[in-house]
Amino acid sequence: MPMADNAVWTRDRSAALTIAGARRASAERFRAAGIESAELDARILVGHALALDHAALVAAGERVLGAEESAAIEALTQRRLTREPVARIVGYKEIWSLRLTVDAATLVPRPATETVVEAAFAAIDAGGMRSRTLRIADLGTGSGALLLALLAELPNAFGVGTDISAGALRVARGNAARLGLHNANFVACDLAAALGGTFDLIVTNPPYVASGDIAALAPDVRDFDPHVALDGGIDGLDCYRALAATVPALLARGGTLVVELGGGQALPVTALFAVSGLAPAPPLPDLAGAPRALVATKT
Ligand SMILES: C[S@@+](CC[C@H](N)C(=O)[O-])C[C@H]1O[C@@H](n2cnc3c(N)ncnc32)[C@H](O)[C@@H]1O
Repeated sequence: MPMADNAVWTRDRSAALTIAGARRASAERFRAAGIESAELDARILVGHALALDHAALVAAGERVLGAEESAAIEALTQRRLTREPVARIVGYKEIWSLRLTVDAATLVPRPATETVVEAAFAAIDAGGMRSRTLRIADLGTGSGALLLALLAELPNAFGVGTDISAGALRVARGNAARLGLHNANFVACDLAAALGGTFDLIVTNPPYVASGDIAALAPDVRDFDPHVALDGGIDGLDCYRALAATVPALLARGGTLVVELGGGQALPVTALFAVSGLAPAPPLPDLAGAPRALVATKT
């Protein structure tokens, strides 16, 4: 934007602005910056700055903002313009209808990860096991997304989430406590290294981006998600290889493994688990139609 236009833009923004006008202005700037979810992001950030939910935001649309409110909205808008994800700015993300705190140590849970949750529940229901005292492990738990989504609907189950990031485990423990899910435990270790006994269900969304592909990721991901949550080694498959070597011994007979898949990984990951002695099913697609969840059972 040329200097003169910028000056006008700045003066206009500092003039009396309504809540609806602030939403429109932020959305316009997001759109101009190439941010696809411009309207939604503006709505969430303006609501967050003013501590108003969606309905209250609409109802108060014509209210003129005070100087402090305008400054708060401007600060959040600037952060989003640096490509900081909305979930990181507001400090939470909803997955499986659970509001989870996220911070710099955790991946922001993605909607596609709900495919793993769906696949896990489908396996549980196929075995008529909802009310059993299932033992569940979530390897690389991050914010606790997978484990907590499962435990929220399985009151008789016990779960353990592992992670090599102490910061992520702190967030996951906080999320479990806030949600009142006292049947969740968390342990710091490499994948399943500290786990003993056997599990009825093991879920995992491991880091699966090939190291060389990280630089080309969208800035919202590359510059804000922890690289330890992304980097899957030279071909993206390091964690799957480690899981194939360890998970079969940790699964109870009839137990189920559900793993999230990255793009193009359905075939190699299916092969890895088949060779390890598990019985993989055809991968399940996410809402965009991409193969996203692989279910493998120990027969
Ligand atoms: C892709 S994130 C998934 C987080 C969460 N499960 C989710 O779906 O939102 C991968 C997680 O695995 C953790 N991680 C990476 N390597 C690990 C390892 N070798 N052992 C345990 N955790 C690991 C990262 O710290 C990160 O929290």
